[in-house]
Amino acid sequence: MENEKGESSSIFKMGNSAQERSLPYVPDCYAVPPSYEPRDALDSNFEIVPTIDISRLKGSDDERRGVIQELSSACQLFGFFQVVNHGINQNILDDALEVAHGFFELPAKEKKKFMSNDVYAPVRYTTSIKDGLDKIQFWRIFLKHYAHPLHRWIHLWPQNPPEYREKMGKFCEEVRSLSLEIMGAITESLGLGRDYLSSRMDKNGMQVMAVNCYPPCPDPTTALGLPPHSDYSCITILLQNLTGLEIFHLSAHGGSGRWVLVPEVKGVLKVHIGDHVEVLSNGLYNSVIHKVTLNEEKTRISLASLHSLGMDDKMSVPYQLVNNENPARYRESSFNDFLAFLVKNDISQGERFIDTLRIKD
Ligand code: OGA
Ligand code: NI
Repeated sequence: MENEKGESSSIFKMGNSAQERSLPYVPDCYAVPPSYEPRDALDSNFEIVPTIDISRLKGSDDERRGVIQELSSACQLFGFFQVVNHGINQNILDDALEVAHGFFELPAKEKKKFMSNDVYAPVRYTTSIKDGLDKIQFWRIFLKHYAHPLHRWIHLWPQNPPEYREKMGKFCEEVRSLSLEIMGAITESLGLGRDYLSSRMDKNGMQVMAVNCYPPCPDPTTALGLPPHSDYSCITILLQNLTGLEIFHLSAHGGSGRWVLVPEVKGVLKVHIGDHVEVLSNGLYNSVIHKVTLNEEKTRISLASLHSLGMDDKMSVPYQLVNNENPARYRESSFNDFLAFLVKNDISQGERFIDTLRIKD
């Protein structure tokens, strides 16, 4: 795909992308189709994004029951919620954002050490989604790395900035314990008990960190940081320094739904329901479709921590949720199955992993 300036996606490969070079214009291969609506149809009513005080999970039985109910309704209506009073110290959050920012500020030579478009690499630096292969390019630079168990991966992480490993490592550990607590509440809300997945997630569960950087974009009305997609994880926990994340809120009464900008309130963490919790709930909870819009002046950093079962551990619909009237609606699949899907498919064209799992009646 070349335009009249002779620019195709492939000339904006990692290391040479418009966003890494701070081009003063948006090349055509970054222009998203109107159906992706980078800017309009936005509902700026922040009130409607559910916010849950997660500390009550450790309170009395009544308090815990209350949280579980709020969580269940947020998962059904949005596939998304924010958590407050999560117990992670503000310094740990600030430090992780700071070292992430520091990494992206390093000279190109330093970052290039991690360049890879192998989706199986445990640490990789790249741009867009699949770098130069996507039909449309996205205004994103990212470092992806495995994070659990920490001792197995941390020696592969960047050594620059010098505090990267320590500060990002601390954040990853804290977020991981939070993810186990939230997953326990999710399985409990489905009537499966809080330990239904805990040993599988605790022992071999995967934690993948997507450390994202969205540099200022000269025209945020034509390009996106990420196209509409859902995450393959069980849940994703996200920390951001600025707004930019938008979630798609399906109307409860049918109809088309609308995009909602997620507010940024210091210290609040965002939780996305991923494809594997949609499977776990047999479709009661929907994985949230979300996208990233851009900022003309500021660099946006987000840390997305994706939590799932082990590499080859299959998520399937629990037999407890299935009966004659309510058959299983999804096939089983693993994280590895998702990676194979990612290699073959173009997420920027709206292909979704969850769609490949649906059992048609
Ligand atoms: C992701 C993602 C959102 C963001 O990495 O999958 O959706 O705000 N990130 O960066
Ligand atoms: Ni995502």
